[in-house]
Amino acid sequence: MNKVICINDKIKPFNETINIDGDKSLSIRFAILASLAEGKSRAFNLLKSEDVLSTLNCLKKLGIKIIIKKNYCEIFGKGLNGYFYKNDLTLNAGNSGTAARLLSTAALNSPKFIRITGDNSLKKRDMKRIIKPLEKFGAQFKKNKGTLPLFIKGSDRLKPIKFSENLGSAQVKSVVLISALLSSNKITILKCKPSRTHTELLFKYLKIPITIKKTNKFDYIKIRGKKSFKGFNYKIPGDISSASFLIVLTLLSKNSKLTIKNINVNPSRTGIITILNKMGAAIKLKNKKIYKGENTADIFVKSINNLKAINLPKNFNNSTAIDEFNLIFLCAALAKGVSTFQGLLELQSKESKRLDWGFRMLKMIGIKSEKISNHGIKIWGKPNLKLNKNYIIKDYLKDHRIAMTSIVLALTLGGNFKIYNPDSIKTSFPSFKKIIKNLGGKIN
Ligand code: S3P
Repeated sequence: MNKVICINDKIKPFNETINIDGDKSLSIRFAILASLAEGKSRAFNLLKSEDVLSTLNCLKKLGIKIIIKKNYCEIFGKGLNGYFYKNDLTLNAGNSGTAARLLSTAALNSPKFIRITGDNSLKKRDMKRIIKPLEKFGAQFKKNKGTLPLFIKGSDRLKPIKFSENLGSAQVKSVVLISALLSSNKITILKCKPSRTHTELLFKYLKIPITIKKTNKFDYIKIRGKKSFKGFNYKIPGDISSASFLIVLTLLSKNSKLTIKNINVNPSRTGIITILNKMGAAIKLKNKKIYKGENTADIFVKSINNLKAINLPKNFNNSTAIDEFNLIFLCAALAKGVSTFQGLLELQSKESKRLDWGFRMLKMIGIKSEKISNHGIKIWGKPNLKLNKNYIIKDYLKDHRIAMTSIVLALTLGGNFKIYNPDSIKTSFPSFKKIIKNLGGKIN
């Protein structure tokens, strides 16, 4: 296994059209909903990253048959109450917060306690946010510390709930939606801060009764549970969060152009494009389509050498770019002027404390930054920044997005980089290194 990679050269100009791995959020949601469907479902371009494989392994442990072929994955769903609960069942979600949280709903029908656990990074992450709604539905917890491992069992008296979700977390929202589906044929009412909308869109496509009213600040969702549905097919579009590393690589490289085909551009995910275009980039969406309620498009991006600073308004919906902020900070480091970003406390609850990593990485490359309270960052850009020292990226809790941000940094700004634990990238974007090499990037 490759424990450290070295990058000592900037990437040369490139002009390519590429396809990338499937969307992680959609892959995990497809797998869970397919396991609850009646009969066979099939996904094409399912992401085969460690987070998705952890989800599939957990579903197999719940008695679901899954066949993975080169071009598709088949899941044989057993309906809304079809999981099989072995004694002393442990579901290990690996590094995946989405898998751990969404799969905790699997315990709602379990007469026995199920243990849900994950790796060292996942064990540090907050689970109180899902314990609250699950308890309201009627789930029972023991030895509960608010982090993994969780011990959960269900109840035969599950009830619909009223719940307010104030973090803007799609994971918490999805836990409530899936729990509502499993619990009762009465109506669950959810008021939530906007976040990615994939679960609702899949529910709509599967004709699960759901209504959504959007206001400026909140979405109001009503859902009636216990509606069974049949197996379905899904062609998973590319992941915009993964595409973002290649978008920023292209923007910050010299004289390069890139088209990334068939990406999920659901507006609840495209914050990075909005922000970078406000900073002067000319990222374009071409060949726009709607697929099963989701927006898809080819993304076209070219190099830029005059990025402008941005004051991201306080009311900007940060959840639309929640996994991309470290890349955005890197762009702000090269922009003309001082940029500010606020309301980013949720970044501290990710695979690593990503706001802290923002400060750390900027300091390492000689960029001045300052805290705005405990939730924001001010960045003094240096448009002519060039690196020529030795840089080491280590001890980042194997956070895949920090590893990939470092690779983009090394390939665009120069210097000699040593990046530890590059295998962490397989968590979300297994073909990343191969794509970089095909674009001409030298990773040793
Ligand atoms: C995800 C939602 C986001 C995101 C994560 C995937 C999802 O987390 O950071 O990588 O698939 O629902 P939160 O919903 O907790 O913000």
